[in-house]
Amino acid sequence: MQVAEKVRKLPHLVTALPGPKAREIVERDHQVISPSYTRDYPLVAKSGRGAMVEDPDGNIFLDFAAGIAVVATGHCHPDVVAAIQKQSARLIHMSSTDFYCEGMVEFAERLASVVPGKSPKRVYFGNSGTEALEAAMKLARYHTRRDKFIAFYGCFHGRTLGSLSLTASKAVQRKRFGALLGGVFHTPYPNPYRGAYGVRPEHAAADALAHIEGELFRRLVDPEEVAAIFIEPIQGEGGYVAAPPEFLRGLAELCRRHGILLVVDEVQSGMGRTGKWWASDHAEIEPDILCTAKGIASGMPLGAVIAKSEVMDWTAGAHASTFGGNPVSIAAASATFDLLESGLIQNAARLGEFIFSRIGDWPQRHRCVGNVRGKGLMIGIEFVRDQRTKEKAPELRNQVIQAAFKRGLLVLGAGENTLRLCPPLIIDEEQAEFALRTLDECIWEADRSV
Ligand SMILES: Cc1ncc(COP(=O)(O)O)c(C=O)c1O
Repeated sequence: MQVAEKVRKLPHLVTALPGPKAREIVERDHQVISPSYTRDYPLVAKSGRGAMVEDPDGNIFLDFAAGIAVVATGHCHPDVVAAIQKQSARLIHMSSTDFYCEGMVEFAERLASVVPGKSPKRVYFGNSGTEALEAAMKLARYHTRRDKFIAFYGCFHGRTLGSLSLTASKAVQRKRFGALLGGVFHTPYPNPYRGAYGVRPEHAAADALAHIEGELFRRLVDPEEVAAIFIEPIQGEGGYVAAPPEFLRGLAELCRRHGILLVVDEVQSGMGRTGKWWASDHAEIEPDILCTAKGIASGMPLGAVIAKSEVMDWTAGAHASTFGGNPVSIAAASATFDLLESGLIQNAARLGEFIFSRIGDWPQRHRCVGNVRGKGLMIGIEFVRDQRTKEKAPELRNQVIQAAFKRGLLVLGAGENTLRLCPPLIIDEEQAEFALRTLDECIWEADRSV
């Protein structure tokens, strides 16, 4: 870091929460901002540095949410800020749909070089996760000349009408939005804690695969009509549930057998968070198409679709976006890539192991923790009323999130009853220790109400 100032590493609260200035902003927000957003607690962010966020009242929080797994390199990493400043003084926009930009080419080359598999790749840039998914859906149809899709219960792929047709996360996300895309079939996700159908967890992978061949292909859709199967290798919004590697390998093989494209959605798991570049790397699969966004540009809007070159065969004019691959976002992404390459991915793996070594026994220590899981710094803690029946306990999860906020720790829920830890990849042991100690205390309180 070039700045000599002492950067605080742990929370420091100076008012009751929310403080007076934060409260005033929240009240104004409620008058003018879309009420469709879900805010779990009244954090008002004024500035951020590393893993710390400061509110307008001077309270400082430790951020284990990272803007929903976005600020991979921490808030305002000096290298990312410098790259943004330099690029924005040189060229902010030109539109890569009409002209060429070296930065975009160079970043695409780097991105393609770390996506799993040896086949040559091509890259399409958009501005967000949902745009990446929309592009992948169109590309899959274009390339295969087939029009059906398969996706998984619990997965979240975005909120625009195409990607929302794949999303099967929460009914509220679909309610009153009318008919979505036809020809999308959903199938159980191989949840290793609950099983594919809520039973037989040890058969989750086999059951989920059998359902596609034995039910979907026999009763609902001929595989010859399926363009692509979309999957999050680790469900994000669904509760930080990782599909078993043997399932992902089986799925890749099933796709190959039927000429179906395998599309992995690594919008949340992507670029280093899991301790490898991609969650797909843990299963050693080569997807036909990989979608990513969120963390790749440390907070600047950027989404990417990386496909085998033979698959990304659409013609000029078939798809484009005015802002996609914006030079400033690309500069932030290149700086992020440098930082990931030079230590942050290892840090994610190392801190992930450190955290697991501390929380692995929480289901034994805490009555209301049913399961802890994850890879690298993508960690889920699932709350239950009863460890034997696995009855979900969303209210206990919510209680813990609120209690953590009051102690200066920012965390988010995922799925119905899971608490997710997705801190910036720059955190150290001291910060992890603090977060775990805080959660431990909050969970003891929740235990008492079971
Ligand atoms: C796995 C996954 N796919 C797609 C999306 C949609 O991304 P965005 O909100 O940038 O449109 C998300 C967002 O949470 C996600 O987690």
